[in-house]
Amino acid sequence: MISIICGTNRGQSVSKQIALYYQNSLKEVGANSYVLDLKELPKDFLNVALYDNAGKSEAFNIVKKKLNKSHKMVFIVPEYNGSFPGVLKTFIDALDYPDSLKNKKCALLSLSSGTQGGALALSHLTDILHYCGMNVLAQKPKLAKIEANFKNGQFTNELYVSLLKEQIAAFLPF
Ligand SMILES: Cc1cc2nc3c(=O)[nH]c(=O)nc-3n(C[C@H](O)[C@H](O)[C@H](O)COP(=O)(O)O)c2cc1C
Repeated sequence: MISIICGTNRGQSVSKQIALYYQNSLKEVGANSYVLDLKELPKDFLNVALYDNAGKSEAFNIVKKKLNKSHKMVFIVPEYNGSFPGVLKTFIDALDYPDSLKNKKCALLSLSSGTQGGALALSHLTDILHYCGMNVLAQKPKLAKIEANFKNGQFTNELYVSLLKEQIAAFLPF
């Protein structure tokens, strides 16, 4: 089972819509996945699931247990202030180090309103995931000007459709 992590907890996020699109694309090629939207983390997650409280939040333990069983992950990452969202780093900090991520495989995809497409966000995230022992797929689509290229749950830009297909084709045998 592939975990698709929606890398923001913002309500009505474009990232969530792209996570659902990605899930459907995986389904079309016969791959099972589920979407872990960081918006669904317990509201008090910051205060009850980290550091001295690690393991004490039943709600977060359920999320973590499911992720721990998964050996492949896809991170859908919006660009926030030239990097990836803070909640995604906090989420990674709350996982089991190193077992949640070590020797597992992931694919990264980023999006932004601006022209960078989240290139720096993925660069920063790749450094962290490598530190945690994760294998990161080389194909990392960076979707710039997302509002002009993704509408009503569908890409309006054929290039983006093919970048996703190429990533999935490389990720399944990875
Ligand atoms: C807190 C915050 C910071 C953002 N910073 C940037 C940025 O640095 N560069 C950029 O192009 N877009 C920025 N955006 C816009 C997001 O990249 C854009 O809305 C993204 O396509 C989708 O994010 P979403 O999944 O939250 O909808 C920012 C948005 C938020 C909410």
